[in-house]
Parts: sequence; structure tokens; C-alpha cells
Amino acid sequence: MRKKISIVGAGNVGASCALYVSEMEVGDVTLIDIVEGVPQGKALDLFEGSPVRRADAKTTGSNSYDDLAGSDVVVVTAGFPRKPGMSRTDLLNANAEIIGTVADAIREKAPKAFVIVVTNPLDVMTYYMWKRTGFPRQRVMGMAGVLDSTRFRSFIAMELNVSIEDVMAMVLGGHGDAMVPLTRFATVSGIPVTELIPEARLNEIVTRTKNGGAEIVALLKTGSAFYAPASSAAQMVEAILKDKRRVVPVAAGLNGEYGLKDLHFGVPVVLGENGVERIIEVPLSESERAALEKSAREVHDMIGELPK
Ligand code: APR
Repeated sequence: MRKKISIVGAGNVGASCALYVSEMEVGDVTLIDIVEGVPQGKALDLFEGSPVRRADAKTTGSNSYDDLAGSDVVVVTAGFPRKPGMSRTDLLNANAEIIGTVADAIREKAPKAFVIVVTNPLDVMTYYMWKRTGFPRQRVMGMAGVLDSTRFRSFIAMELNVSIEDVMAMVLGGHGDAMVPLTRFATVSGIPVTELIPEARLNEIVTRTKNGGAEIVALLKTGSAFYAPASSAAQMVEAILKDKRRVVPVAAGLNGEYGLKDLHFGVPVVLGENGVERIIEVPLSESERAALEKSAREVHDMIGELPK
């Protein structure tokens, strides 16, 4: 039987994710949104293009969480974007309410699903999804590290004018200003980037990576990034459904790894058919560890603001 991928939230990220996932031919895709007609319309539009794109996947749309039933993977993009005048806490409360509703529906309708959270503030929403579903840690993860890393990789490729295929790099930590791009582990075909890009310039690239989301918001003015986030989430779906055992940073539930617990946080994991197969602990320098701990404190503080 074909696998089923449900995407909750048929906005910019959700609809783009449906496109990328359908092209991977890993299963059929259901878009679910509260706005009547939108998930149905986008899913139909996608399916109508599938003969031309030769993407052999059904895409359907729905306004009912009942259609989560039978999902192997659920990608959650439902949420409000941050609007002018909205504090971080306002956004957190508004999106926590949505995540709570969606989590209850997933627990009831798709109790065996893997859940990939995309809604911001990412690490906190992922933690809340995990708590509310009561699912095992391996099955609830957040998409942020893949996105931050692909941004870092693309900036390195731009800088050196080399193929993106040869650039590997990883960003750890929370999905916020305190994220930790690891320059020491970034390579171009195995050559450390520290050998190819002067330190001062590399620091600028790190800063650009940290501000990657804000840079797009400043350009778009009326919305936030969606192509890169959607393709990052799609890559995680593929890693699970094809049991690829990809080594990627995801917001995973920590229980003592990196000396941290009781939070979801960006760390390198092996992603395969059981979800987070294992967390990889890389030895960190003192400054990297300090940066990671600072980022973890930010996430912990936000977790403290979640509804009890
Ligand atoms: N159930 C289902 N869908 C919902 C719900 C809900 N309870 N609440 C809101 N939605 C839908 C909205 O109707 C909208 O179509 O979620 C969608 C969000 O889409 P956009 O506003 O286009 O936002 P998008 O750019 O896709 O970002 C979604 O991902 O990257 C993060 O910060 C971003 O948290 C945001 C999320």
C-alpha cells in the first residue's frame, strides 16, 4: 500500500512541501487546512500538473482532521506568522493553541505517525507537540536545522562559486538568533572551509546564516520564507519513508545528550524508518559548547511560557 503523508496547514510552506513531497513519489499527500476550499484547490491544482511533471502521487485536500487517519508522516505547518506589534509571547500563545489542537487530532486519528513540526517558534512548538501527543521521542521532531544548514551551505557555495553539491555544513541549536553554525565542520568535498575562506569573511557568512529568515522577510515584506523551509521538511519526509539514514540536524527531544534535557533542540541525528534513530554527539570546543548552551537557555525560557 502507498504511504500517506499529511500536511497540516496549506499555506505557503505547506503547499510547497506538498509539491516537493509529491515529486519524490514517496506516497500520496493530503493537505489539511481550516480555510474552506484552499487545501482542496491547491491539491487539485497540484494533481492536475502531475502528468506533466510525471509525479505519480495523489494529492487531495480537506478541512477535516479526520483525514489524518492512516498517515505515516504528518508535517505540521499550521500557524500564524508574526505580525507587526505581536510580541514573541503573543505568537507563542497563538501558535501553541493551534499546535495543541493539531496534536490532539494526530494522537486520535494517526497514532502511529511520525510528526515533523515546522510551525514557529520551532523548538518550543515541537516540544509542545511531543508533550501533547505523548508519542515517543523518536517520532516527534522539528524542521529547522536542515533549513539553517541549507542556507549556510548555499552561502558557502555562493562565496566560492562552487557547486552546492559539494558543500556540507551543519547548524546546531535552537532556530533563533542564537543558532550555532559550526564552521569547523563545514567542508567543500572534504576540504574544511576554514582553509578556503578567511575567518573574517566566514564570520560574515555565519551572521548571514543566522539572519537568513529575517533577510527573506525583509525582502518579501508580506510573508516569510517558504521554498527552502518546504524543501527541508520534504527531505526529512523522504529520509524517513525511504529509510535513508540521513545524518541531518533536527530539533530532537533531548534526554541528557549534550548535557541537556527536557527540550527539543537542533542536534545531528540519524534519520530513518524509525524516525530519530539516534542522536550523534560531536565533541565541541569550549566556545561552541557555550554558544549551544546559550541557545538552549533561550529555548528553555520559551518552554516555560507554554500553557500549562
Ligand atoms: N489547522 C489547520 N490549518 C491551520 C490552522 C489549524 N488550526 N490554523 C491556521 N492554519 C493554516 C492557515 O489557514 C494557513 O493556510 O495554516 C496556514 C499557514 O500558512 P501561511 O500563513 O502561508 O504561513 P507559512 O508561510 O506557510 O508558514 C507556516 O511555518 O515556517 C513556519 O514561521 C512559519 O509558523 C509559520 C509556519
